[in-house]
Amino acid sequence: MNRTEINDIIRESDRFIRSFGYVMPPFAYWSPEEMKTRTADDAGAIREARLGWDITDYGEGRFRDLGLFLFTVRNGRQADLKNGMGMLYAEKIMISRQNQISPMHRHVVKAEDIINRGGGTLVLELFNSNKDGSVDETSSVSVPTDGVMRVVEAGGHLALAPGESVTLLPGVWHAFWGEGADVLIGEVSTVNDDLTDNIFREPIGRFSTIAEDEDPVHLLVSDYDTWL
Ligand SMILES: [Fe+2]
Repeated sequence: MNRTEINDIIRESDRFIRSFGYVMPPFAYWSPEEMKTRTADDAGAIREARLGWDITDYGEGRFRDLGLFLFTVRNGRQADLKNGMGMLYAEKIMISRQNQISPMHRHVVKAEDIINRGGGTLVLELFNSNKDGSVDETSSVSVPTDGVMRVVEAGGHLALAPGESVTLLPGVWHAFWGEGADVLIGEVSTVNDDLTDNIFREPIGRFSTIAEDEDPVHLLVSDYDTWL
């Protein structure tokens, strides 16, 4: 993706998120320069926990069809997970645009609640895992949705209206997209490592490669290792 496109998506997404009354934390609006000085000073935790802007086309170069906007608001410590106590949780705010697919994947460690916070209908395609972790093409999938179990056939679609959510435990394969309109999505999950805990059905990447055709308005999480 070009940096111009990334910058445009940041501005559009910020407007969309604010239109629902959700406002992101102060570090969302730091310039790259401020991010650099602050993460070297009193805000190292932002870089460590990989908080911030995250825009991906999964390396395929067609964001409108295959992509996701994310902002990691909080994220715990992997070490706490091993200790079984401490900051074991994470929160993201995301946008799936109408008919924009987040491709089929599962997690090994992370359990996640995916919440429709407003906009269109959020549709999820679901499969169970076979013992070897591959997609189970046959068994029906049972998922908790706001305290109520719902069952879909293998590869069936679960539709979440604004306000509804689903709990996806590790091993549940899922792809999702907005239907009818763009959707604001909340994610509440186990502490999260996006570098290692996303297993995709198709061989694609989790992050975009970026062509630098203008200066970044804000750094993406995937910029931290090279820019900070
Ligand atoms: Fe996921």
